[in-house]
Amino acid sequence: MGCLLFLLLWGLPQIWGSAEVPQRHFPFRGLQIWSFVNSSWMRTDGLAWLGELQTHRWSNDSDNIGFLRPWSRGTFSPEQWESLQHELRVYRSSVFRDVQEFAQMIHLVYPMEIQVAAGCEVQPGNDPPHFHVAYQGSPLLSFQGNSWVPAPEAPFGINVVIQVLNQDRGTKEMLQELLNNTCPQLVRGLLQAGKTDLEKQVKPQAWLSSGPSPGPGRLLLVCHVSGFYPKPVYVMWMRGEQEQPGTQQGDVLPNGDGTWYLRVTLDVAAGEAADLSCLVKHSSLGSQDIILNWEGSHTSLGLIILPVVLFLFLLIGVLVFRFRRRCFYQYIR
Ligand SMILES: *[C@@H]1O[C@H](CO)[C@@H](O)[C@H](O)[C@H]1NC(C)=O
Ligand SMILES: *[C@@H]1O[C@H](CO)[C@@H](O)[C@H](O)[C@H]1NC(C)=O
Ligand SMILES: *[C@@H]1O[C@H](CO)[C@@H](O)[C@H](O)[C@H]1NC(C)=O
Repeated sequence: MGCLLFLLLWGLPQIWGSAEVPQRHFPFRGLQIWSFVNSSWMRTDGLAWLGELQTHRWSNDSDNIGFLRPWSRGTFSPEQWESLQHELRVYRSSVFRDVQEFAQMIHLVYPMEIQVAAGCEVQPGNDPPHFHVAYQGSPLLSFQGNSWVPAPEAPFGINVVIQVLNQDRGTKEMLQELLNNTCPQLVRGLLQAGKTDLEKQVKPQAWLSSGPSPGPGRLLLVCHVSGFYPKPVYVMWMRGEQEQPGTQQGDVLPNGDGTWYLRVTLDVAAGEAADLSCLVKHSSLGSQDIILNWEGSHTSLGLIILPVVLFLFLLIGVLVFRFRRRCFYQYIR
C-alpha cells in the first residue's frame, strides 16, 4: 500500500511535468526607420510586434500610434496611453532636431537612413530591454543599462556623439523609464488582453504537387503546407521512418489572413518517388501528424486518363448518333 502511494506520488508529477506545454515566448519588438533625404525632407515610420503578431503602426503623418489589434492598448487606461503617446511624440520631434544638429556637427552626408530596434520581454530568462541604433544599415550605438555605448564596428567619430548623448540626463532617464518600466507594463497588459489571439492554434492544410523537372529522369516533389498558426512547424520528406536529407525548406511566408505558408521540396530520380511521403508536425495537430504519400495522392495519372475516357465516350456517342441517323435516312429513302 505504502509502495503504491509512493509510486503514485512519484508518478503524478512526472505525468504532469511531461504534459506541460513549453511556455511560448512573445518578445515585444519595435522598429523605427528615420529617413533624412536632405536637410529639409525627412520622415519616420514605426512598427511593433508582440511575438509574430503586428500590434502597432506609427506613420509620420499621424500624431497618434495606430492600433492593429482590438487589444493594442493592453490594459492601459486611455489616460495612461495618452501620456505614453505624448512622451513618444516628444521623443520623435527631439530626434528629428538632434539628428540634424549632429549632421552639421560631424558633417554627415545626406541621404541618411537610421534604424532603431527596441524592445523588452517580461517572461523570466529573456533578453533584457534593448535599444539599438543603426546608421546606413550598420550598427552604430546602443543604450546599455543607463548609458549610451558605441557599437564595436562603429566609426571612431561616433565617440563625440556618444559623449554628447551621455551628457543629456533627461533623455537617458526617460529611456530607462520606458525600457525598464513602461515597456514591461505594456507587454504584460498585451499578453493578458490579447491572450486569445496570441494563443490561437490554426491547423495546416497540406497537399502535394510536382515542380518543374530538375533534369532528365528526375522529379521535384513539392509538399505545400498552408494556413497554420503559430509559425513553428516541422515539414520533412520521409521514406518510411527515414528523414530525407535532400529536403529543401523554403521560407515560411505570410498568408493574407495572418496564418503561414511553407513549401518543402525534394529532388529525386523518377523511379524512386513511389514510397516517399511528406510528414507535417504542428502544435495545432497535437500528435495527429499529417502524412501524405506521394503514390496515390499524386493524381496526375487520373487527371490524364479522365479527359481521355470522356473524349472516347463523346466520340462513341457522336458516331452512334450519326450511324443511327444514316440508318434512318436510308430507311425513309
Ligand atoms: C529634398 O528632397 C525632396 C524629396 O526628394 C525634394 O522634393 C526637395 O526638393 C529636396 N530639397 C532640397 C532643398 O534639396
Ligand atoms: C514628417 O513629420 C515631421 C514632423 O511632424 C514633418 O516635419 C515632416 O515634414 C514629415 N515628413 C513628411 C515627408 O511628410
Ligand atoms: C534599468 O535597468 C538597467 C538594467 O537593465 C539598470 O542598469 C538601470 O539602472 C535601470 N534603471 C532604472 C531607472 O531602473
